Amino acid sequence: SRNIRLAVIPGDGIGTEVVTEGLKVLEAVGVKIESTHYDLGATRYHATGETLSDEVLQELRGYDAILLGAIGDPSVPPGILERELLLRLRFELDHYVNLRPVKLFPGVETPLADTLPGDIDMVVVREGTESLYAGAGGVLRRGTPHEIATQESLNTAFGVERVVRYAFARAAERPRKKLTLVHKTNVLTYAGDLWQRTVNRIAPEFPEVTTDYQHIDAASMFFVNQPERFDVIVTDNLFGDIITDIGAAIAGGIGLAASGNINPDRTAPSMFEPVHGSAPDIAGQGKADPTATILSVAMMLDHLGLTEQAARVEQAVADDIVERLAGWAGRTTHEIGDDITARVSGGA
Ligand code: IPM
Ligand code: MN
Repeated sequence: SRNIRLAVIPGDGIGTEVVTEGLKVLEAVGVKIESTHYDLGATRYHATGETLSDEVLQELRGYDAILLGAIGDPSVPPGILERELLLRLRFELDHYVNLRPVKLFPGVETPLADTLPGDIDMVVVREGTESLYAGAGGVLRRGTPHEIATQESLNTAFGVERVVRYAFARAAERPRKKLTLVHKTNVLTYAGDLWQRTVNRIAPEFPEVTTDYQHIDAASMFFVNQPERFDVIVTDNLFGDIITDIGAAIAGGIGLAASGNINPDRTAPSMFEPVHGSAPDIAGQGKADPTATILSVAMMLDHLGLTEQAARVEQAVADDIVERLAGWAGRTTHEIGDDITARVSGGA
């Protein structure tokens, strides 16, 4: 088979460290990869003022997939790298599904009492291109006591329908076949109504899927006291952002949370990244956990149709995690990467 063409954006802070381990595992799983590194992020921005040029964006469109470490640095004012680089990639490459599994692996400590691995096993389908992230709004009389800041949530029938349809399809292929819409229909009456009507309209196409609804505030509470309620969740960009951090917290922490920014229509490459950020406070010290990136690599393999290899990586992580009960504390980023790599190549 032909080589997989992979664009790698290590980014800022611990991004470089975790991506190195992700690539190590990828190599060990035995797929033919041809990777090209892009030095996008804070360093490039300081050196050239560039976040993401049209030329680089165009080039990125030519790859089969993108692996991203983390974007963001305290030396850059908030919003610049996020909007002009990370969100621009998600929007331009039409990553309308931000897929974020929330799964408690055996052996992982959860802060929740009396919770077993089977109790936390869900997939959040976060919409990736619309909502408050669209950047609609503005400011009047800035800096005066009469300043007015508006920030609007953009929701289109087209955008909502395609992500809801994707979520139904995911739910249909899981054992429990349950889809929960999470929104705030009691207050956000225009957008909430569009989401709820869309779910209701598509539901008959998936008669095997049970549908449910929770307000975002109640859902946040159920995440910590009844996570077993959830199977597949579909929600908008901002609610999905927030609830997946709660998801990471209940499933062993941000060091384990993987994600895929998916373009299901395959009109552009999908992009895989850990949910965590660049963690400048621990950058360069070998303290970062590369597991979230390695699990994101597994999601990437799955997306590329390499399901056997994806399962092998996920199993290697699961096996590694079980052993952490014994000796987790001392391992560096490299050591965790090496241990998982050894398991993937059959050496452990
Ligand atoms: C995430 C991050 C990003 C988001 C930030 C860095 C723009 O929090 O991937 O969840 O809000 O989507
Ligand atoms: Mn987030």
